[in-house]
Amino acid sequence: MLTTVGLLGFGNVGSGVAKLIKTEGGLIADKLGWPLKLAKCLVRDLNAARGFEPEPGLLTTDPSEVVGNPEVQVVCELIGGVEPAKTLILRALEAGQHVVTANKALLATHGLEIFRKASEVNRDVMFEAAVAGAIPVIRTLKEGLTANRIQALYGILNGTTNHIITRMSKDALTFAEALAEAQAAGFAEADPTADVEGHDAAHKLVLLSALAYGVLPKLDDIHVEGITKLDPIDFAFAAEFGYVIKLLATASLHNGQGPLEVRLHPTMLPAGHLLSGVNGVMNAITIRGHASGDIFLSGPGAGMMPTASSVVGDIIEVARTHQSLESSLRPPILGWRKLKSDSVMPMSEALLGYYLRLTVLDRPGVLSAISGILGAHNISIAQVIQRGQNNLTGWVDLVMLTHKALEKDLQKALVATRELEAVREARLIRVEESL
Ligand code: HSE
Repeated sequence: MLTTVGLLGFGNVGSGVAKLIKTEGGLIADKLGWPLKLAKCLVRDLNAARGFEPEPGLLTTDPSEVVGNPEVQVVCELIGGVEPAKTLILRALEAGQHVVTANKALLATHGLEIFRKASEVNRDVMFEAAVAGAIPVIRTLKEGLTANRIQALYGILNGTTNHIITRMSKDALTFAEALAEAQAAGFAEADPTADVEGHDAAHKLVLLSALAYGVLPKLDDIHVEGITKLDPIDFAFAAEFGYVIKLLATASLHNGQGPLEVRLHPTMLPAGHLLSGVNGVMNAITIRGHASGDIFLSGPGAGMMPTASSVVGDIIEVARTHQSLESSLRPPILGWRKLKSDSVMPMSEALLGYYLRLTVLDRPGVLSAISGILGAHNISIAQVIQRGQNNLTGWVDLVMLTHKALEKDLQKALVATRELEAVREARLIRVEESL
């Protein structure tokens, strides 16, 4: 027996997949019971330089030599983006091929169509590499923790932003400085928008929510906020209060009951929490199951071999499931027999603590005016810091931590606060106490 694999795309990850299949062929055969064989690889340019040179004759520029080729049982889509990846995946499923993909953007936006097609034709779509690189979080949710009601899930799901945040926090770099440094070191793309604005992590969060709760939320329903507005001074104040700031993805049942709350934004976490110690390009996820308790997973979220580790793991799993057992009742792709259509809770109903940094004129009555506005909106202040004075401009930073408050009350209070003549700027970072 043999499992044949075709690659769509032969960049960094594709090279890693080819290398792993070739160099670990014996190990894989020992575990699976038969070998994997790389059959064809779709590339854009036959003559481009590659991280790993495949055997002669494997490269092609014709998609139909992979998709729909009866010599290829499992198609690995590593092109990224929506098109042509979506069309090729749907065609592969129609042709009876199984699909392994690392494409979070595609699955988060067109996942339902792809998963439905896969169920219809009784084929698999595996995507461990789409979320947090080498970390086996998809399998953990789908299999290991399947007996649990997932109460909450918190993740650091983007290595680029975590690297930038770590430099801002530890070395007081500005966002622009830390980004330029990350780009020079190859940790950030030339166009960093998808990472720094939170889109990449939001795609991963959508997929994790589907696995944990059986609801594939619409991206537009999720509050997504990146890291571009963070300032080194906020990391310093956060440390004074005993917190660190992370770009945190959250999916949880509001008040432990519901509705489902899904959001991604810079968040202050208690400095002692395991997630707070996850620095640099590392990713991590905490999953709270009602029976399991808190599970913490951490590891590389990107890179050639870490991502290839998950892709090849999926290929082996597909081979194991389908070739040893052709079943008409395959395990559903997201681990749920029926996806629910519940919408997620609006951000306005979130109940969180808030860190507020207001740039204010240092004169009598300002603190009382601000606290009056907060009080009138049911927001209770837990701590206040004001450091020094600025004799030249008169503007100083007034920093507050609030007790838990409703997002909609907080937003209204911020509008009123910004209208005060003595307030130049008002920024907020949400505080996660329930970790
Ligand atoms: N660009 C992502 C990151 C990896 O920085 O974590 C791929 O999703």
